[in-house]
This record gives sequence, C-alpha cells and structure tokens, in this order.
Amino acid sequence: MTQDELKQAVARAALDYVVEGRIIGVGTGSTANFFIDELGKIRDRIKGAVASSEATATRLRSHGITVFDLNDIDAMPVYIDGADEINHQGAMIKGGGGALTREKIVASVADRFVCIADGSKLVDVLGTFPLPVEVIPMAVQSVSKYLSAMGAMPVLRMKDGQPYMTDNACHIIDASGMRITEPAAMESKINDIPGVVSVGLFAIRGASVCLLGTSTGVRRLEF
Ligand code: A5P
Repeated sequence: MTQDELKQAVARAALDYVVEGRIIGVGTGSTANFFIDELGKIRDRIKGAVASSEATATRLRSHGITVFDLNDIDAMPVYIDGADEINHQGAMIKGGGGALTREKIVASVADRFVCIADGSKLVDVLGTFPLPVEVIPMAVQSVSKYLSAMGAMPVLRMKDGQPYMTDNACHIIDASGMRITEPAAMESKINDIPGVVSVGLFAIRGASVCLLGTSTGVRRLEF
C-alpha cells in the first residue's frame, strides 16, 4: 500500500468516532484532508465542524459542511487530526503544516483527540521530525537563542523567499536535533519562552486514540 492509501484507510476508520448530530473538530494536513473527504460523504449526519486552519475551513465548505466559529461552541465530543510524529504514550509533534496553534486550541475544547496517521509516524522518541514553534515575528531571534541553549538547531521556516506566515500572522521556527524524552516538560518549558505563541508538542494533552495505517490493516492504539 502507498502512504496515501494508508492515510485514506485511517481517514475512513476515523468515521467510527464521529458522533451523529454533533459538531466535530477537524485538523489540518494531508491525512486530515482525506478525512474531510470522507466526512463529506456523511455530512447529513453531523451538525457541522470547527476548522483548525483556513485551508481546512475551505475544504470543509467545499463539501457542503457548515463551519462553526469556536467561540460559538461549548463542547465537542471529538477532534480528529494527523501528526508528524506520535510516541507510544500518545504524545505528538504537530505543525509540519503550520497550523499547530489553532490545532491545539480546537483540540483543547474536544473530549477526545483521535490521531490518524500512517505507520511511519509512530516513534519511540519524539524529535527526529523538527519541532515547530510558532512565534511572534519580533521574537524570532530571541526565541531562537533560547532554543539553541536547549541544544536545538533552530531554523526560521521560509516560503517563496519570505518567512512563512501562519493563519495568525506569526512565524514558525523549526527546531531540529532534539531528542524529546520528556515531552510534557519540554512543552511547558518552550511555551514559557517570551514570544512563543505555541509549540507543536501535544503531550500535556496528547491523543486519546491513534488509528495507525499499516500494510496489515488499521491498528488502534489507546492511551
Ligand atoms: C498541520 O499543522 C500538522 O499538525 C499536521 O497535522 C501534521 O503535520 C500531519 O500532516 P500530514 O497528515 O500531512 O502528515
């Protein structure tokens, strides 16, 4: 099976977690996009969705799914999203697609986080994938110094020759070379650096379930 076929398989399996008549939180990225395409097929069975990025909102609307503002929502049973890495405890690195802050906000309102990923995303120790850190533009240098002092190699993410701009008009520093053995402690430590909007570590509140696409089928990990 190709990586896309594995992503499609977990996207389909995630439909089992959709609660009828409710609003669902939807993530960002290629796996989340496959999920949105599946969700479009059952759109009459849900009330609507909250999007974790402008790109996701656009794709949801293209399937005729109503997109709600998070400020109008009290509760959500489930948030479904991909990950760049996930460990055996359900802690994740996210933000390869740049939507980490909104993903963390929407996920924080949901009762359960269902991670959907192809098998290559499961790791013993987080950190091979560079850790995305969203920062206020004026803090790029100062935050980079903090990250260097923590042993990381910080690189400002670029797009079309310009610093990458998030949906929140902020920039992203990708911190590579980190071996993250204590993800929750690291999440708090980086969140505390002045100028950091959020770090792409989802450990203090990790996944509740991970649907992992493998050549022998969809594996379900519960945390
Ligand atoms: C988006 O900001 C990310 O958090 C994605 O959810 C994550 O990068 C996984 O993306 P893919 O499904 O494209 O691998």
